[in-house]
Parts: sequence; C-alpha cells; structure tokens
Amino acid sequence: MCGIIGITSNKPVSSAIINSLKKLEYRGYDSAGIATLSNGFINEIKSEGRVDNLEKNLINKKIEGNIGIGHVRWATHGIPSTINAHPHSSETVSVVHNGIIENSTKLKEYLISRGHIFKSQTDTEVIVHLITEYLKENDLKKSILKMLGKLQGSFALGIIFKDQPDLIIGARRGSPLAVGYGPNENYLGSDSYALKSMTNKISYLNDGEFCIIKKNQVEFFDEKGKKINKKVLELSSDEKNYDKGDYKHFMAKEIEEQPLTIKNCVKEYIDNINNDINIYNFPWKKEEINSLTLIGCGTAYNSCLTAKYWFDEMTNLDVNVDVASEFRYRKNKFKKDNLYIFVSQSGETADTYAALDLCNKNKMKTASIVNVIESSIARDSNFVLPIHCGPEIGVASTKAFLGQMLVLYILVLKLSFLREELKKDNYIQKIKSLKQLPDLVEKTIMSQNKIQLVANTFAEAKGSMFLGRGLSYPIALEGALKLKELSYTHAEGYPAGEMKHGPLALIENGMPVVVLAPRDSYYSKITSNMQEVIARGAKVLLITNKNKDDVVSENIWETIEVEDTNVDLLPFLLTIPLQKLAYYSALKKGYDIDKPRNLAKSVTVE
Ligand code: G6P
Repeated sequence: MCGIIGITSNKPVSSAIINSLKKLEYRGYDSAGIATLSNGFINEIKSEGRVDNLEKNLINKKIEGNIGIGHVRWATHGIPSTINAHPHSSETVSVVHNGIIENSTKLKEYLISRGHIFKSQTDTEVIVHLITEYLKENDLKKSILKMLGKLQGSFALGIIFKDQPDLIIGARRGSPLAVGYGPNENYLGSDSYALKSMTNKISYLNDGEFCIIKKNQVEFFDEKGKKINKKVLELSSDEKNYDKGDYKHFMAKEIEEQPLTIKNCVKEYIDNINNDINIYNFPWKKEEINSLTLIGCGTAYNSCLTAKYWFDEMTNLDVNVDVASEFRYRKNKFKKDNLYIFVSQSGETADTYAALDLCNKNKMKTASIVNVIESSIARDSNFVLPIHCGPEIGVASTKAFLGQMLVLYILVLKLSFLREELKKDNYIQKIKSLKQLPDLVEKTIMSQNKIQLVANTFAEAKGSMFLGRGLSYPIALEGALKLKELSYTHAEGYPAGEMKHGPLALIENGMPVVVLAPRDSYYSKITSNMQEVIARGAKVLLITNKNKDDVVSENIWETIEVEDTNVDLLPFLLTIPLQKLAYYSALKKGYDIDKPRNLAKSVTVE
C-alpha cells in the first residue's frame, strides 16, 4: 500500500529517494512520484505505474535538490493516474500522504470557498491547501498544528516547504511513520524497510505526534506541539533478504525458504535438550486466562482459524476467531480473563491495529504474533511472539503463513502443558515431531513435480473449489485465497460438509476441485464428499499424506501426496502444494506474481 520517503541532506537526494521507493514496491501501488526543492522552487515529477517509469521520467527531466519527498500510491480517492499520484503541491508546499482523510469533502468545500483550486480527485490535496491557507497568517509550526487539528481519518504525512531548504515535517495518526538518522542527513519513511539501506538508527512516531527533520537535527512534538524525547533504536541488518537471488520471483524464493524459516523459528522456541518450549517473560499466570480471541486479516486470519482447531483439541480454553475489520466495530464483551491475540505479518495492518488499540483502551490483555518486530502492533501489545521469518516481499503471504501457524501451535502446546491438559509424554512427543517439521517441509517442497501441469487446468478454469474438513478446512480457505490473489480466477474455499447446502449447485463438468483429505479422523467423511462432487463432473485434485494404505483412486483426476507426520502438523505440509498451485497458475497466465493487481502487502488503510 502507499509508501513515504523523505530525505534532507548536504548532497542531491533524487536517486536515493528512487532507491528507497523501490524498497517500498513490495507494498503494492499503482503510481509513484517525487518532489524536491532547488533554487527556491518545488520540482515535482509523477508517473502512473511502476517506480521504473518514474525513474525513466527523471532521466529526461533532471530533478535537483538536497531535500525531497517521494511516494508510491495505492489509490483510495480518485483513480490511479499521474494527476492523482503524490506528491501534491501548491506554490508553497508539497505533501505525500498515506491513509484516508475522512472529512476531505467538507474541507474541500471550505477551501474552494476561500479561492483554492484543486487539480486532483484525491483527499490528500486538502492538506496542501489547508497548510497554504494557514501559512498566510501563522508561522510554520502553528500552521501544521492547525492543519492536523482539522483532519479526520488516518494518515502519515511528509511535507516540504518552498521557503525551507532544510526542513521536512512528518506527522502520524493511524498510519505508521519512522525517522532515520544518517551522517549529515536525516530521513522520513513509512516503514523501516525503506530506510534500511541508508541507516539502521530509527525512531518511530506514535499516534498524534509530529516531527521536524533537518539534516543535522530532528525534533519530535506531541499533538499539542509540546517537545518530546524519542528513543533511537538500532535495527538488525538483513539486507540480503531483499534480493531475489537466482529466483524469478520473491514468491518462489519465499516458498523454498520455508524449511529454513521453520527451522529458525523452532530453534527460537524449542529447548532441544529438554524437549521443552521456551516462552520467556509471558506476563500472565495460567489462572488469569480462561479464554482467547484470535484476530487477523487475510492469510493471518486463516492461521488463526487453524489454531482454533488445535486449541479446541488440546485445551479447555474458549477460543473465538475474528476478522479484525469485524471485531473493531462489533459490540464486544470485553472480559478480564480473555487474552486477545493479534496475528499480522507486517504488524501494520490498519484493521488489526485498530482492533488491538480498542482492546488496549479497554485495558485488556493483548499479545501479538508478528514478523516485523519493530512494527506498530508489536510495539503496542503487552507481549510479542515473533515468527522469525525474515522479510516477506511477495504480496501473497507464504512463509509468514507457516510461521504464524507454527508460533500459534507452539503457544497451544505450551498453554496446554502449563494448564495440565496435555500430559508430559504427549507434550514431549509433539515437540519431537515439531523438530522434524523443517525436513518434512523440505521433502514436500522437493516432491511437487506434478503441480505445474495441474496448475494449467486451474489457470484456465472459470472457477474452482477447495474443500477441507477439520484442520484442513482453514487450509482450503488459504488455498483458495492464494489462487484468487495470484491468478485472478474465482476460487472458493468450503468446509466439505457444507457442499450440499448450496455450493454443490456450482459443480459442473470439468470444474477443478481440490480436496484436502489427509489421513485424519475426517478421512472417510471427506472422501464421501469427494465422491459426491466427482459424481457431478468435478475434476478432483486430491491432496493427502503418504500412508501405508493406498488411496482408493476411483475417478480421481490427480493425487498429490505430502509427507507423513502427526495429524497436528499436516496443515503445514498441505499448504505447500496449494502455494505452488497458485504460483504456477499465475505464471501460466503471465501475471505479476509478486505484486498482484489491486492488492498490497501492508494494508495501512481500513
Ligand atoms: C494483505 C496481504 C495478505 C495478508 C493480509 C494481512 O491482504 O496481501 O498477504 O495476509 O494483508 O496482513 P498482515 O501483515 O496483517 O499479516
């Protein structure tokens, strides 16, 4: 989704801004732009499409200046176009904005009545005109405070001024914003990824705060304009993870990295010698938690659904799962003995953050499971469990999904053991199986030769279905989500037992249907559901685990077997062919696998 970069330096900044915008490309966007100051003028260049287009534009129109702001835009108000791309500028100021200004229509009416002329259809442009208007009668800081006081909605802003050759304003409400420190230059960025190639010294703005960045000084202020102090954090360097290496796409790389990321995560949480789980500094006693609410969006939500099956199987805890965008507006019954767990790869998803914020405001116990440990969700939860996956760049989540499920599973085992619901022998056995998981994931990845051929059928079909029962049901949802995200074909995930209540009407001759039928307690039930769709003409791709008993393969179109392991861990292995199915379907269609249309990696607006 939208990304911001700002630099003030003692040397020209345009190429550094372009490089940082390229780091933000993974977030998903549809246009890009840059504005710099030189000789008392604002130079603005914008392009529709990729940052490459903007870069080409810059070759023709050289843009000078030691201070500038850049942006990648994911359209909310107004179509993706050069005019609607950011920065938006008047003669006096230039602004980049992430988020949505909810009262922009009202503000626009007021500004038009004051003689302002609007060029774009964006909500952002009201910010430009508000500052321009307030600067007529106020100093810079007062104008910023006045402007911020008028805005409703969520935003992260970067602002430069025609008359200020060494000053960038950053301001945040709802959308994340970071400041970076360099030698004789300082930076503004919508996340630390954008700044990592320039510095590892970062501070984060909290909601309501703003900052004034100069090349040798940064000052932070609260919402009333009172100066505040900020911690400077040092980030670890993992620059190599931003490189595709020999892979054609980040998604292919990230699928293949899974044995390693699972191994790293297991290493972080498992005490190898004692076969125990280490979760240090867990802030609550077991008696203090009687129920859980698991909250996430998209793939993260699917990992929560999977975890509910494990919790139900291994604990007596009451477990609810909710989509963050529903939870945040639901009339919730907040309970003191409930732990609210927020699952998010990026740790910046607007709805998930808002749900966390709501729980914090109601003084609830909050924990998060995130990949980005410097993220807003991690910072604002009472307790954090990282998934240790390294940066995930492909918009469609792969290794983070396995990482989220893994940490949730580890938490289930630990809580269940502490609550004396899982006996010691069983606990140790499950931990031993878990230690085998990286190898099993690796073997499963290596043995998926058939999938490319099968994927061609899914790519060409009008639509497809993904069926599962029990633990395989959320995996069916994830498989369908992956396929629609990447190949832009309709794919529906369903609990197989529900087919007769409607979806069976969709089955027609030749329709590809994935049936996830591992050898668990649901096996005989789901194979019956499978025969019902076969009888109506479906082409079934059966995905199961290796077993001494052969599959009764009557009328099954294709069968894929994943490695065998204890039933708890099968969701990890069943996911792999589904990731590859989506990947190869999109490859067949020639689509942009790492950046699917209309989607974004980090969804920072609601
Ligand atoms: C977007 C991404 C998905 C991701 C979801 C939640 O939709 O494209 O891959 O699952 O956001 O993101 P989060 O960072 O909160 O896990």
